Amino acid sequence: MSRVISVVSSKGGACKTTTAVCLAAEAARRGQRVVVIDADGPQHHATEWLRGGVNLRAIDVVIGPSSLPAAVQSGIERYDTVIIDIMGADTATLSLAVANADLVIIPATNSPLDVDGVERTVARLRQVEAELAAKGIAGPIVHRVLLSRTEPETTLYRLIKTRLTENALPLFDAEIRRRVVYQEAAFVGSAPPYMADARAAAECAALYDEAVAVLTTVAAEVA
Ligand SMILES: Nc1ncnc2c1ncn2[C@@H]1O[C@H](COP(=O)(O)OP(=O)(O)OP(=O)(O)O)[C@@H](O)[C@H]1O
Ligand SMILES: [Mg+2]
Repeated sequence: MSRVISVVSSKGGACKTTTAVCLAAEAARRGQRVVVIDADGPQHHATEWLRGGVNLRAIDVVIGPSSLPAAVQSGIERYDTVIIDIMGADTATLSLAVANADLVIIPATNSPLDVDGVERTVARLRQVEAELAAKGIAGPIVHRVLLSRTEPETTLYRLIKTRLTENALPLFDAEIRRRVVYQEAAFVGSAPPYMADARAAAECAALYDEAVAVLTTVAAEVA
């Protein structure tokens, strides 16, 4: 069964592309057929990253599809894992990415502005959910917040985590720390699952495992 994972935030710079590429790399490393739908307007950073080296060539890319739902449908027919990367703004693309996902990942960095971005994104997600429910398409949109580029030793990190928890936002246990290897990865067209930094590789693996566990639980509940 194919999995569609959308990585979204209404805020720019929240680590969407990094999350999307790392998840895609981890899925590919585990033998999955993977496509990344790069729906990030004119930037297409994910495409540049995936095509910038040799390690990630097994991951297919669809650039700027004219119809996101059609691209997702075609992805489901041909791949095990479909990952969507979008721009950081509250656009129609965000709503489509949320509506067409089995799991929505909302990354947030060590920044109060990103907390705001998470809250706005979840508000939009709830609205899309209500619109789908009104059309008779039942079921909540499964989502998790991913703390990324974290600095766990800082007070700010603890404040942000407390605020998200108090607001009942569902956090992944997995977190991605601030590490230069993530930036290096984009520069050389690779990703931690294929690089020497074991701690970053373990973070990507833990995130992937948890995402799969969430999807498996949801699938079992629906069945
Ligand atoms: N774990 C990390 N450690 C250090 N730097 C990181 C980490 N994750 C992402 N970055 C850096 O943070 C910046 C923003 O990340 P990224 O491009 O993934 O965000 P984005 O949400 O896709 O941004 P945009 O809204 O512009 O598409 C980039 O320079 C990236 O290399
Ligand atoms: Mg991006």
